[in-house]
Amino acid sequence: EKDILSKLPLRGKKVLITAGPTYEAIDPVRFIGNHSSGKMGFEIAKVAANLGAEVFLIAGPSHQKINHSFVKRIDVVSAEEMYNAAHNYFNDVDIAILSAAVADYKLKNVAHQKIKKKDVSLEIELEPTKDILASLGKIKKHQFLVGFALETNNELANAKGKLQRKNLDAIVLNSLQDKGAGFATDTNKITIIDKNLKETPFKLKSKEAVAKDIMNVIIDKIDA
Ligand code: CTP
Ligand code: CA
Repeated sequence: EKDILSKLPLRGKKVLITAGPTYEAIDPVRFIGNHSSGKMGFEIAKVAANLGAEVFLIAGPSHQKINHSFVKRIDVVSAEEMYNAAHNYFNDVDIAILSAAVADYKLKNVAHQKIKKKDVSLEIELEPTKDILASLGKIKKHQFLVGFALETNNELANAKGKLQRKNLDAIVLNSLQDKGAGFATDTNKITIIDKNLKETPFKLKSKEAVAKDIMNVIIDKIDA
């Protein structure tokens, strides 16, 4: 008799996903953030879990909800917390998909008290955050590592540069130029680029359908 669970292509596989924005504190009541909703990453988590994977979803601040027995959600706030959480799980997973909109800069000195307003301009000094994806690219062994690229210009060239610089197996290019694609919408238009720099463009679709396309390509590449 055939085990019906064997039809789940990701059964026995572990998948790490980062999603949402990160918030970088300015003082106890203020932060620097971005418009990422987390929707794309949460949809990928759902699709991967429905395909049988055990999913570790590392989420920045987001209103998205997920309720799936195969998904473990790890909530983080800052880029540094996301970096630490991602490195905690990475060794153990088969696939890592980094869709989070991670802050590129953080405060050099976070104020311990609320900053009071004055009549003069305020300067805050920023320093770079650590690049989670690039760091995982350096330490990866068996893992299939997928990044995202958000571009407004020179999209394909920039995405290919990120793929190669960060030692990825594939990158999902997310075009902000397309109406209906990106941050605040329920739809997305992507191009997946593999490590041989082969481009596969997809039509504008719901983020759920986009998540299925992404998982389909990954399953194909890892031969699951
Ligand atoms: N990323 C990350 N850690 C960071 C910054 C980015 O893991 N500190 C990941 C994102 O999750 C995404 C990929 O790197 O998968 C590309 O992010 P993007 O912002 O498009 O590129 P950057 O390399 O940060 O370059 P830039 O913002 O200058 O385009
Ligand atoms: Ca960035």
